[in-house]
Amino acid sequence: MVANRLPVDPHVDAHGSIDWQRAPGGLVTALESVMRNVDGAWVGWSGAPDLDVPPFEVDNMWLVPVALSAAEVEAHYEGFSNATLWPLYHDVIARPEYHRPWWDAYRRVNLRFAEAAAEQAAPGATVWVHDYQLQLVPAMLRELRPDVRIGFFNHIPFPSLEIFSQLPWRRQVIQGLLGADLIGFQRAGDASNFVRAVRRLLGATTRGSIITLTNGHGRVSRHVRAAAFPISIDSASFDALARTPAVQLRAREIRQELGDPEVVLLGVDRLDYTKGIRHRLKAYGELLAEGRLTVPECTLVQVASPSRENVGTYQTLREDVETTVGRINGEFGALGQTAIHYMHHNYPQDEMAALYLAADVMLVTALRDGMNLVAKEYIAARSDERGALVLSEFTGAADELAGAFLVNPHDIDGMKDAFMQAATLDRREARRRMKKLRRRVLDNDVAKWAKTFLAVLSASPTRTEHP
Ligand code: G6P
Repeated sequence: MVANRLPVDPHVDAHGSIDWQRAPGGLVTALESVMRNVDGAWVGWSGAPDLDVPPFEVDNMWLVPVALSAAEVEAHYEGFSNATLWPLYHDVIARPEYHRPWWDAYRRVNLRFAEAAAEQAAPGATVWVHDYQLQLVPAMLRELRPDVRIGFFNHIPFPSLEIFSQLPWRRQVIQGLLGADLIGFQRAGDASNFVRAVRRLLGATTRGSIITLTNGHGRVSRHVRAAAFPISIDSASFDALARTPAVQLRAREIRQELGDPEVVLLGVDRLDYTKGIRHRLKAYGELLAEGRLTVPECTLVQVASPSRENVGTYQTLREDVETTVGRINGEFGALGQTAIHYMHHNYPQDEMAALYLAADVMLVTALRDGMNLVAKEYIAARSDERGALVLSEFTGAADELAGAFLVNPHDIDGMKDAFMQAATLDRREARRRMKKLRRRVLDNDVAKWAKTFLAVLSASPTRTEHP
């Protein structure tokens, strides 16, 4: 497994000793449960600038940290990954920045990951590379180790050709990805965007999901498949966690702590401009102003976990969100009666499960999101078949989760109506919808996702037809 992050984050104490703690984040949560059951290595960034530590074992996983200097973290992670690719791949919601030194660092760091993977992989091994931070690794690894089978999975959206074409290094990125035998995407639309980009930017022949690559003499050298594999969560574990007496008790406690409101709305996101938090707050603020919702009968709990705090767009977003929360609370709150309970923290999984159980309505209003695993966690937690999900149609999850109230987050009036419908849903209709949602999430978990991806990868031809 090769991913930008390891499943653990380093916490260095005053004496310089490192305590490795479970890392938050969708990708890591998804892959961790897969890796525990196989005998493999996980190559990832050590998690802090200039931290160079030897490989070590955690929970049956062999972790191989890749060291990055402070300058590389700035140019590869904060720069090219999160200020160029992230906004570009999320439909330019924020303006992507193109800087040549960032691209140089991206290439250098991708090569370091490819070298680490090449060193770890046994002869004929399968290597699975993840996400936008490492798109050059497949081709670099193939060069170093032509014997291994390479899969790549893109956890975020892949944009339309018109948007992708902005990238000054668009051909190099596509060539990097085409080093893989199989390239997985969240939605069918992402896969077809990629195939179209390959056809138009490289002039390669494509037929459905199959891309045919030729060598210098125009002869077929390899085939690459690009297809959709929607990711999921460890649904059964989440369901089981939410059923434990401790979590159930905590959920009741949370409602009491909130002052026993009639309606609890919940948002759970990394504090990221793709998540549509500003749009959600606007809709909620207007519903309060119009008196369609009132405090203390209704309250919104917004968990916004800290993310990418050195990147400018994230700093601006935090200021905007916190100003808006303050304004709404100032206008509609009273002593002991809060319109929005805003938390800028990470919480452990059991607390999250309790929050999901305590919420009548889950609000997922992303402007663009590869999948959105929070929506799936909410559903997995609701074995009581209560609660309602408002879900943006611009998430990968919207392709799968009929039964949610689908919304366009740019349509504030439409979103307000959906909030109200979900908040006033009768018990029978809620159960009917949640049953349907749960069937989907429980039947399609992350283990099945990984198994399907790896089965298709192992069936893909690795040999060249005309060496
Ligand atoms: C998304 C990305 C992951 C990333 C995670 C957390 O889920 O697809 O690749 O790890 O966000 O972001 P961070 O920048 O903290 O790794």
